[in-house]
Amino acid sequence: LSSTELDLAPIREGQAITVTWRGKPVFVRRRTADEIKLAGDVKLSDLPDPQPDQSRVKKPEWLVVVGVCTHLGCVPLGQKSTDPRGDYGGWFCPCHGSHYDTSGRIRKGPAPANLTVPGYEFLSDTKIRIG
Ligand code: FES
Repeated sequence: LSSTELDLAPIREGQAITVTWRGKPVFVRRRTADEIKLAGDVKLSDLPDPQPDQSRVKKPEWLVVVGVCTHLGCVPLGQKSTDPRGDYGGWFCPCHGSHYDTSGRIRKGPAPANLTVPGYEFLSDTKIRIG
């Protein structure tokens, strides 16, 4: 399938789910107020791949990123609440130690770029179509 529809209603604040889109995992996280603030408070000059959080989301509560590390393609950990999420509260790639923040931006480690934001749109308040 080239596009995937997803019902967001069952996802509670602070939870994340993974869906498959074009054979790749896509991470959808319903961010807490703290996670949103953390992502917004970062100075762009502190980022290896500078992108403001607002440019990576359509609604602050919802972060949608391709779950493939931009270093060598492992799937980062952080989707389950029991997973390690790295030093910046987002995701941690166990392959070579890349740390991503709550906007999916690379903060530390060998990955050269932020997690990719796929093309997607809101079909309603609680439904998105990816791709
Ligand atoms: Fe993720 Fe190397 S593949 S750090």
